[in-house]
Amino acid sequence: MEHAVKIADQVYWIGVNDYDTALFEALWPLPMGISYNAYIIVDERVALVDTVKGCYFSQYLDKIKSVLPEGRKVDYLVVNHMEPDHSGAIKALREAFPDMKIVGNAKTAEFLEDYYGLVDNVVVVGDGESLDLGIHKLDFYLIPMVHWPETMVTLDTETGVLFSSDAFGGFGALNGGIFDDEVDTRYYEDEVLRYFSNIVGRYSSMVLRAIEKLKKKSHAVIAPSHGPIWRTNPSHIVDLYESWSSHQTENGVVIVYGSMYGNTQRMMESVSRGLVESGVKRLRVHNASNSHVSFIIRDIWRFKGVVLGSCTYNAELFPPMKQVLDALKNRMISGRVFGLFGSYTWSGGALKELQEFAASCNWKSIDPVIEAKGAPSESDLEKCRELGRNLAEELAQ
Ligand code: FEO
Repeated sequence: MEHAVKIADQVYWIGVNDYDTALFEALWPLPMGISYNAYIIVDERVALVDTVKGCYFSQYLDKIKSVLPEGRKVDYLVVNHMEPDHSGAIKALREAFPDMKIVGNAKTAEFLEDYYGLVDNVVVVGDGESLDLGIHKLDFYLIPMVHWPETMVTLDTETGVLFSSDAFGGFGALNGGIFDDEVDTRYYEDEVLRYFSNIVGRYSSMVLRAIEKLKKKSHAVIAPSHGPIWRTNPSHIVDLYESWSSHQTENGVVIVYGSMYGNTQRMMESVSRGLVESGVKRLRVHNASNSHVSFIIRDIWRFKGVVLGSCTYNAELFPPMKQVLDALKNRMISGRVFGLFGSYTWSGGALKELQEFAASCNWKSIDPVIEAKGAPSESDLEKCRELGRNLAEELAQ
């Protein structure tokens, strides 16, 4: 979007789209880009809510100036979140508006000094405190660990716009439209879930606490720091976040497998056949060597059934599968039903590690567990089909 966009009286979106960054946080692929949303409230006193990634400062400043009346300056910058995708332009902004006060909580102030050496003209606010701009009053609520310890949201009580920071946001650049009624929200929801499950999901209990807190505050619009602004149906995104944070699942199965020569892949195909024979249509299959782990985590977060299969590599789990298990352990995903299969040539290893992982999870195991030596036999493949059928039966209950 080239221009500032009005979202309420005296309130404008002044965010930018990033179509260039390959990996967000140097980790997460951005095939659909990402937006860094920022906002301005042009009242008796002018306040910005968040900045953008540093390299987009020039676009951001142009948008500020496009809605700032002649001779007016920015009085406040509210910093909801200090991660550099939102705070990266703070130093340049301070140079453009030297008298601008920076508003954040005590943790924000600590991080402002740590990241940018900024200590002057910082206004520290606490949970529930307010800033009066004239007509608009901004209320601040702390939502620690959604996504960093200093994260907070800002509610404009005049318009009901809730600037929700990372909460309710997701990957995906804003292609022409910025509101939920202007875009295909289904296009964004997969990317919102990928953002949630990989970046925020580990802190689900804190997300639930934040949702409980925010539900008590009257708001008409949810304006996150990434992705669409929810003005027509804000409760939709809140409900999605609530169900994901509560580890509610949809009926379906994700198979993740690692295969060097195609033998373990044949086992995956037999498990798939067993699932489909028994009525499972919502099936997602990931070759761990080719699918980025973020897409695997997203799908496992969504679906109840999980099947993990791996060949053995140097007497251990195949490295791409090891990365998947490490990511799963880190996300503390609970309440899944799962099956396992593996293969080896001269010594075992992969299946043992899959079983150790399974024992450490609070997941329900489905039989049989299959281990093939070399290429799977007809008997091994039939057992794989049986695993698929049994898992489908369990999910159907
Ligand atoms: Fe969008 Fe946690 O930064």
